Amino acid sequence: MITFALSKGRLADKIFEMLKKLNICDVNISSDDRRLVIEEGNYRFFLAKPSDVPTFVDNGVCDLGVVGKDTLLEENRDITEILDLGFGKCRMCVCVKKGEGESYLNKKDLRVATKYPHIAKSYFDSIHKDCTIIKLNGSVELGPIVGLSDVIVDIVESGRTLKENGLEPATVIADLSCRLVINNASLKTKYNEISNIVSGFENILKEN
Ligand code: PRP
Repeated sequence: MITFALSKGRLADKIFEMLKKLNICDVNISSDDRRLVIEEGNYRFFLAKPSDVPTFVDNGVCDLGVVGKDTLLEENRDITEILDLGFGKCRMCVCVKKGEGESYLNKKDLRVATKYPHIAKSYFDSIHKDCTIIKLNGSVELGPIVGLSDVIVDIVESGRTLKENGLEPATVIADLSCRLVINNASLKTKYNEISNIVSGFENILKEN
């Protein structure tokens, strides 16, 4: 049995499309679906909250996981990132009020609102900039609008959410996309099965 932890939400459709092409899972998941466990042949799939996918893989509950690079950077788990699956592309950015550019670099007592405290802290440490991180769980763009923070660190995909709220990206911290990850022990104990799955994903990526 090979077990996968898959991200529910935005990435799920694309993940199932790839698994179909690989003949690993032929299940149609609608947005109305409430199932959290799906079994097909020798495969079992757990549909997890994206931020929990690295936890399932790290603890050995799952052999493989499919999750965004943002979550991997934030969770910083001891798991093997094996493939960039090439979809879900976006960027982690420091975003500011329109026109402010990188003036945040000179701001004393900089306040940063984010859903990604670890990524934000690592970035500001890397540029030796002191700041206070304020953790939010969503709608992070509200931070500078309501005066809770000076800037935000958040995902930018189309840029529409920023634009419609009078904000803009100032600095790109990282390029992000969906990744295939593996439990380190499974990589040894199920080497052949996992190699076949990874090759399958690689072949699909070559076709595109
Ligand atoms: C994410 C992110 C931005 C938005 C970016 O939020 O936090 O708010 O998407 O996408 P865009 O550049 O295409 O507008 P999400 O939809 O996950 O909701 P959240 O605000 O609850 O985090």
